[in-house]
Amino acid sequence: MRRPLIAGNWKMNTKLEEAENLVRAMLAELDSIDGAEKVLCPPFISLAILKELTKTTSVKLGAQNMHFEDRGAYTGEISPLMLTDLCDFVILGHSERRQYFAETDEIINKKVKKALGSGLKPILCIGESLEDNESGKAEQIIARQVKAGLAEVSPTSQLVIAYEPVWAIGTGRAATGKQANTTINLIRSIMANLWNRETAKAVRILYGGSVTSSNIAEFIAEPEIDGALVGGASLKASEFVSIVSQTASLKSPR
Ligand code: 13P
Repeated sequence: MRRPLIAGNWKMNTKLEEAENLVRAMLAELDSIDGAEKVLCPPFISLAILKELTKTTSVKLGAQNMHFEDRGAYTGEISPLMLTDLCDFVILGHSERRQYFAETDEIINKKVKKALGSGLKPILCIGESLEDNESGKAEQIIARQVKAGLAEVSPTSQLVIAYEPVWAIGTGRAATGKQANTTINLIRSIMANLWNRETAKAVRILYGGSVTSSNIAEFIAEPEIDGALVGGASLKASEFVSIVSQTASLKSPR
């Protein structure tokens, strides 16, 4: 029922030419993989060129952030209206946005509502910090982020959630498959209470945090994990292709 999804979050990396080269280095192989949805999330400035390069392929695009208004005096921001021409997905509430750009649950909730209303599929990121984890508060933080992020959002399987424990991002210290599966199971049950069981079962929930071609199989083997949001390893063509192809072959659509 849930189609596996691998998204590459390039973060603030790649100049125009580097983005183009990176896509060219993986496009044919990615396009030929059938059993998983493939999404590249480059910096805003490269979305247009990537759209051109990927237009006749099965590779989809996402943005890394957006504003919650369509237009106006918001210097430096990018609106959903601009993105709908360029991509299908948008990453929202990444922990780096929460941490360095003071994005609150309320702001993220506005963005989720706006993205869905604009026809974009949000990849809503949630995850506890190391401190929350060590003080036993992980479940509480995750429940708050899910409930606040989805406040007044109508049940929809267009939503994607990425569980990214902050302590696993860019550290080389990934969660174990079992840990991630347990938390993702919790997220699904919170959503079932908030919405309904059926929609909660249809929403794809990804794991993110130090995913590589060497550990993806451990996550994909878990029943609740529908794919991954990949940072560093998505900047290497062979790594990303390997992550996608392992996912497609190990995870048969349910
Ligand atoms: P890394 O894969 O580099 O740990 O980053 C994960 C992430 O933040 C993806 O959004």
